[in-house]
Amino acid sequence: MLNTSKRVNKLIASPIRKFLPMVRAAEKKGVKFFKLNVGDPDIFAPKEILQGIKKYGNKNIPYAPSPGISKHVQAWLKYYALFGIKLKEENIVPTIGGAEGILLAMMAVADVGEEIIVFEPLYTSYKGFAAVCNVKLAPITLRVENNFKLPAIQEIAKKINKKTRALVVISPDNPTGKVWSNQELKNIIKLARKNNLFIIADETYREIVFEGKPKSILIFPAVRNNALVIDSLSKRFSAPGIRLGALVSYNQKVMRAILKIAMIRLSAPTIEQLATVAILKNSKKYTSKIANEYKQRRDIVNDALKKMPGVLVSQPVGAFYQVAKLPVKNAEDFIKFLITEFRHKNKSVLVAPLEDFYVTRGLGRNEIRVAYVLNIKELKEAMEIFKKGLERYLKK
Ligand SMILES: Cc1ncc(COP(=O)(O)O)c(C=O)c1O
Repeated sequence: MLNTSKRVNKLIASPIRKFLPMVRAAEKKGVKFFKLNVGDPDIFAPKEILQGIKKYGNKNIPYAPSPGISKHVQAWLKYYALFGIKLKEENIVPTIGGAEGILLAMMAVADVGEEIIVFEPLYTSYKGFAAVCNVKLAPITLRVENNFKLPAIQEIAKKINKKTRALVVISPDNPTGKVWSNQELKNIIKLARKNNLFIIADETYREIVFEGKPKSILIFPAVRNNALVIDSLSKRFSAPGIRLGALVSYNQKVMRAILKIAMIRLSAPTIEQLATVAILKNSKKYTSKIANEYKQRRDIVNDALKKMPGVLVSQPVGAFYQVAKLPVKNAEDFIKFLITEFRHKNKSVLVAPLEDFYVTRGLGRNEIRVAYVLNIKELKEAMEIFKKGLERYLKK
């Protein structure tokens, strides 16, 4: 018998994409779904990127250098300078989205059997990449009931053992919408330094914050040796298909390690690196508008869910996701009901089940994530339909 690898066999289907066949079947029959399940922004991408792609005039499409096209990396430096962070080209390696950044970061800091501390629920690619790298994730569970508050630093410290290599800090966070305060960041930096751990800081949603200003962990000089930042253009420029991100660190050793792996996969896309130079240099022009839009959407989703009997919500302050605990036994079962049975004027709503965002088995079974990636009018209608769907499901 031909078998695939054990590492692949233990992977689970993406919680967000596993319902796709059922959705397609319903769509073929004319059902319209409001898609609040995938973090794919509906907002138009910056015109600079679209123009940049059209303007590409070469007759060849050569590989980019593994450390990135210099013009593109220079544009990143300018982007970071906005946040008071001075970098050199050697501190950045462009990646194929933040997703590849996660993989490269894990491979660079941890060996097979070693451990990385994470806060759950968390973005599911961490689980998938840890599985393929044979790295163990040690989860610290945060709860919707207390707005995903961190435990005392002593509790976090208890998770550290001889095999621990890094802590993951995702801020603003997917799926919780949590934004780490400066004090929380300082505490974790102290812990990381004391125990000689890397901090993998995922700042994919940096500018999407509803309170305070966008920031990076790199503003803290104390973290310079320990931080490896995962960055991405996907969300801040509403352009996930551009497949560009970056790994950023002041630690020369880790950047050399990253570059060695980056060379194996050759390079990030050439045309896209060139097409994003202009907007990276002038990012505020675009990003200053989106946070406010998402804040209004957060309010619509949050208010609507809060009013539904038995539904418990947290208060997101960043990114574009809302977690809710539902008065159901099994959120997946409810989602299947929304896809296959429930219709309101031949419309229904898609949300993501939260169970697979947890590392610990059995948690989050009655929780969902709502991605507010539709315009305000559609979002209002979607939440009305969701309410009706939940009522109908509970009466079953
Ligand atoms: C926290 C986080 N990190 C990284 C990514 C990867 O995004 P991309 O590969 O499009 O940059 C995502 C995507 O949803 C995310 O939510």
